[in-house]
Amino acid sequence: STRTHIAGFNFDNCIMNAAGVYDYSAEELDAVQQSAAATFVTKSATLVPREGNPEPRYCNTPYGSINSMGLPNFGLAYYLDYVSAAQRQVPGKTYFVSLTGFNVEEDIALLRQVQASDFEGIVELNLSCPNVPGKPQTGYDFEAVTRILEAVFDLYRAPLGIKLPPYFDLVHFDQIAAILNRFPLAYVNSVNSIGNGLCVDAAAESVLIKPKQGFGGIGGAYLKPTALANVFAFRQRLNSSIQIIGTGGVQNGTDVFEHILCGADMVQVGTVLHQEGVAVFERLTRELKAVMAQKGYGGIDEFKGRLKTL
Ligand code: DHB
Repeated sequence: STRTHIAGFNFDNCIMNAAGVYDYSAEELDAVQQSAAATFVTKSATLVPREGNPEPRYCNTPYGSINSMGLPNFGLAYYLDYVSAAQRQVPGKTYFVSLTGFNVEEDIALLRQVQASDFEGIVELNLSCPNVPGKPQTGYDFEAVTRILEAVFDLYRAPLGIKLPPYFDLVHFDQIAAILNRFPLAYVNSVNSIGNGLCVDAAAESVLIKPKQGFGGIGGAYLKPTALANVFAFRQRLNSSIQIIGTGGVQNGTDVFEHILCGADMVQVGTVLHQEGVAVFERLTRELKAVMAQKGYGGIDEFKGRLKTL
């Protein structure tokens, strides 16, 4: 089976959407719920609804995607209402709500709103949006990460994980992991898109997306080695109580298998979900099961984190 558990909650499958894809509207979230996905995470919610950046703001490319969405979302109240209804409709199923504040005060205000609701699931605090002009990615400012997590865990004790940007330096992994190990995090989700890449249309001699002169977050196959490196590096450095969600570059069941082998407890899909729609969950699950059957594995715990080194 492809069952897993996060923060003590059980899931029938270990594949779900990545925040920001197929999770903006009730209609999209309904489609994920009706698919083979383990569960859903909502679009990162802000206190106040946002329209996001001007279009075109997402583009597929031969090896993946580029986006600069700018956090379009209906506001936290919309997503809490949606999850509240889902919790009543499917008792026993657990959902993720993604939150993103523009400073620590906003993060705290978002968490207070979650606390005041009937939400019983898992919060994912997004520390890595690369697309809001003038706002750096929090995950690259280790002092800011420390300040935010101190304030968060002063207030909030229900299950909470964080979404991080990709890191590229082994010393940075040492430094950020030492900070994260001080907090009762349920999980770390690696990785968000590689921020501020640039994709070019040679024929048109133009960038592909309108915001930020064409700079945007890179997703898809470009991301896989970076994503696997982040999952494996964090699994080696984080307390065993901190789980890992692996996100980045998944296109087939073998890619899901590789994430788990590197240490992922759950695997999320973004670009490939955007490209194929929610039928991708059935395909990836079937392909993962085929890889496991061929290798004689009955469950993901039999190979999770067991990547061999030479
Ligand atoms: C957006 C992109 C991200 O990578 C993210 O973490 C949050 C938001 C966006 O542009 O909407």
